[in-house]
Amino acid sequence: MSDGFSGWQRPPGPGAFPAYPGYPGAYPGAPGPYPAPPGPHQGPPGPYPGGPPGPYPGGPHPGGAPGAGPYSGGPTAPFAEAPAAPLKVPYDLPLPAGLVPRMLITITGTVNPNPNRFSLDFKRGQDIAFHFNPRFKEDHKRVIVCNSMIHNNWGKEERTAPRFPFEPGTPFKLQVLCEGDHFKVAVNDAHLLQFNFREKKLNEITKLCIAGDITLTSVLTSMI
Ligand code: GAL
Repeated sequence: MSDGFSGWQRPPGPGAFPAYPGYPGAYPGAPGPYPAPPGPHQGPPGPYPGGPPGPYPGGPHPGGAPGAGPYSGGPTAPFAEAPAAPLKVPYDLPLPAGLVPRMLITITGTVNPNPNRFSLDFKRGQDIAFHFNPRFKEDHKRVIVCNSMIHNNWGKEERTAPRFPFEPGTPFKLQVLCEGDHFKVAVNDAHLLQFNFREKKLNEITKLCIAGDITLTSVLTSMI
């Protein structure tokens, strides 16, 4: 397959989105070459030692350079076996080089009890290129709202997610893959939705803000 991404495109069955060929329960393959942002954005050891498994081929690796983050004790420090202390929410992840196709962002956390909402915002300056916003109690319903905000104006909401995969009090893994002209979002290894680019200057989307009613365990970037 020319785009090297056939696993995502062709789930083996409806609903589920489990395995890539050769999927061993952790990412196969070598870590990607994305240059690591300098700042501390590697979460504490997550529930996926060795890298979270997911629907994306290729290998995630900590976005922070070994030794450059909060765990500067050495390259293995981020994976030391220690209880995970949550990251502070709201949480800002700098993306110094902006986004680029094949960049994968893996977020693990737990939905708080009695949540109202949480959101990811991929930002270009003050604009929001991609707002991903699960709402737990909008008119007593649960819905995922995706949108963009340009010059302080929200665009047209997309509410087409076929399911709502988050539960109060329950851990999740959320993955956002930047593709050529859209984002793909997977939750707990199952593809959920895609969002076509409205803002196309990917290299200027230099921040991911994570906010709302979750406890954040880890945020990792990788190239697949
Ligand atoms: C608004 C809400 C914003 C954002 C937006 C998305 O109603 O206040 O936080 O979620 O919808 O369209």
